[in-house]
Amino acid sequence: MPISLEQPFDDESFDEEKINFLKNLQANILKGHGREHVALLFLKIKDVGGTRLFLRDYPISDAYTQHIEVENFKKNQVPGGIIYLAFLSKAGLDVLGHGEKFTSDQPFIDGVRNDAAVLDGGETKSWQTELLEQSHVLLLLAYHDEVELARTLGNYVADFAVESSPLSVVYVQSGRGYRNADGEGVEHFGYVDGRSQPLLLTSQIRAEKIARRGGVNHYDPKAHLEQVLIKDPLGSSGFGSYFVFRKLEQNVADFKAAEEVLAHKLHLQGADKERAGAQVVGRFEDGTSLVQSAEPEGAPVTNNFNYDGDAEGGKCPFHSHIRKTNPRGSSPGGLEFDKRVQMARRGITYGVRLQHPDSKEFIDQPRDGVGLLFMSYQSSIEQQFRFMQTAWANNPDFPSGNVGIDPIIGQGQSNDHQWFPQYGSTANSVSLLFKGFVGLKGSEYFFTPSVNGLKNI
Ligand code: HEM
Repeated sequence: MPISLEQPFDDESFDEEKINFLKNLQANILKGHGREHVALLFLKIKDVGGTRLFLRDYPISDAYTQHIEVENFKKNQVPGGIIYLAFLSKAGLDVLGHGEKFTSDQPFIDGVRNDAAVLDGGETKSWQTELLEQSHVLLLLAYHDEVELARTLGNYVADFAVESSPLSVVYVQSGRGYRNADGEGVEHFGYVDGRSQPLLLTSQIRAEKIARRGGVNHYDPKAHLEQVLIKDPLGSSGFGSYFVFRKLEQNVADFKAAEEVLAHKLHLQGADKERAGAQVVGRFEDGTSLVQSAEPEGAPVTNNFNYDGDAEGGKCPFHSHIRKTNPRGSSPGGLEFDKRVQMARRGITYGVRLQHPDSKEFIDQPRDGVGLLFMSYQSSIEQQFRFMQTAWANNPDFPSGNVGIDPIIGQGQSNDHQWFPQYGSTANSVSLLFKGFVGLKGSEYFFTPSVNGLKNI
């Protein structure tokens, strides 16, 4: 039976068809690769023939190998090897002579530099110079061992520096994950990140249903493959995915100061002060969702909640980052629509921080040099990443009039203050303009080809 995109992928039993499907799909799309260290190589094509040969021989990681490695880790605790992924921008596809095959996604076709609505102030002024240059190919390497990864990266960089190399390096970006004391991945403002994802594998959906994970009766994150995959325009039988990259710099010192101001305005004392930042994110630092609890409940946190019991936004404000980016059925579009906008987020933090050796709390507060390498897979940039960023996060009137922009990722000129409630009631809400702590340093839209599509390019 051919694999249907109108359902999740059943990874609990295998036949030849399913194995071949995964072998022709790049790793990391259906499930995150889980490695703590990442290197991104942004490249420009100098020689088309040589680039084709390079891509043919590149040791691309496929989804089946990823599956086997995950099983091996579960049984024997042996970590998987280096992950090798590859992506092509529209400009790169044009140089390789395949650009005209891509007709379905307008933002991808036009390129992110022409997509003013997702740029800071509509321009690329905030970008670092290296990322202003249009890249053609992106290679992503990931591994658990930082030194070994650096060695492999160094070899690639040295090869690309040779005059006769078919590709040259535009920019190298490294990323590294941080974990809190519970072992959960955290972003630089100190909050658990990545807990809520559309689940594309039946094994993950099954795991989410067990009580310890919280169940799925209030929010079911099950998603169909069509949410992230499209038929690869480059390959006769394979599937690919659109990939969004955004380098988002985080001003931790000013964000933390703004959290303090908000706590003061809300008259929060002691441990309750944590609720200020939670009203910005929608979850406490440990991941506990604000709509479920007035205080952090500790790991494991559940993803099984919706906003049915919080129609006024008295617990979790409408503007909070997770309510804006996933209204879970409380938007005018309804549950199916809200779920369809979701993408597979595979970001990782960049920059170095100091962590307390025991509590694992960050003990420094940088103003720059740290942030999130936001990366996401989707079947439509237009209807997923771009829609989420512009129609929801940047829109002060979403989900209803004058709620303000997303205080973390919202962009644009809106100076509508957000309203922050006393927990459980909007009666004595206080207003504050909470914005400007995340800046865009560069971005690119890519396509993730199937394995065969890449080999035969
Ligand atoms: C520096 C930038 C960002 C930070 C610090 C950040 C932080 C977070 C945190 C702490 C969570 C909660 C954990 C979770 O539910 O997984 C989260 C969730 C989420 N974020 Fe972000 N994020 C950033 C950028 C973005 C961007 C650019 C987008 C998309 C345009 C985005 C979309 C989402 C979505 C969809 C969720 C899950 C919401 C849910 O299902 O409840 N984030 N983010």
